[in-house]
Amino acid sequence: MVKEIRVDYRDGGRIVIQDDDGPLDLLKDWINEAIQKNLIEANAMCLSTVGSDGAPRSRMVLLKHINDTEIGFFTNLNSDKALEIDINKKVAITMFWAPLEKQVRILGTASEFARDVVSDYHFSRPRLSQIAAYTSTQSKELASIEVLDEEFRSTERKYKDKKIPLPNHWGGYKILVESIEYWSGRPSRLHERVILQSVNNEWKKTRLYP
Ligand SMILES: Cc1cc2nc3c(=O)[nH]c(=O)nc-3n(C[C@H](O)[C@H](O)[C@H](O)COP(=O)(O)O)c2cc1C
Repeated sequence: MVKEIRVDYRDGGRIVIQDDDGPLDLLKDWINEAIQKNLIEANAMCLSTVGSDGAPRSRMVLLKHINDTEIGFFTNLNSDKALEIDINKKVAITMFWAPLEKQVRILGTASEFARDVVSDYHFSRPRLSQIAAYTSTQSKELASIEVLDEEFRSTERKYKDKKIPLPNHWGGYKILVESIEYWSGRPSRLHERVILQSVNNEWKKTRLYP
């Protein structure tokens, strides 16, 4: 069945890097394009980490921070991904927007957000998301979905008419980007790839075969 699936990419658009010293500018443009076209989870990205066993593990997270050299996301600081980042700060990110025919791949080094940044974000979230973040011992074994629902309700009762405090176990990571590859679909699999890599504090631009 899957063998028969064949997407003929029409044109993801030419990759134009306006300024090599602004390696994330085009990523910002592409995310904006995805938002403008109402794509669901326009800021979703696949994060890969490597644990102490040397095995890579990937999962989706939401990009919630971007500036000239960094991207970032929020999560549980006791989760598997967080424990893996403690061991190995090198991470890989992939984003793909199928209707745009565009992919971005990033390599970088993760470090924890300052607590005031995490606090600002926590209190900006909907209350139910705050309760979920407070309640979930992410990545740990859960006996049943009913247990989770009851724990959620218990947090709700505990903080009825009160603010949900920022849990110590909740935080996030910024990723200092060391390389970023832009990919755009073209007909006949002649896709376009341009990679920007930080070499001795300068951005080196290279075109790659698809
Ligand atoms: C579209 C999407 C976005 C997600 N965003 C986040 C996120 O921002 N932070 C997070 O901790 N988990 C997020 N998740 C859940 C993770 O994929 C994952 O299940 C969870 O973080 C546990 O991963 P870990 O056990 O490898 O640490 C998201 C899942 C999906 C499908």
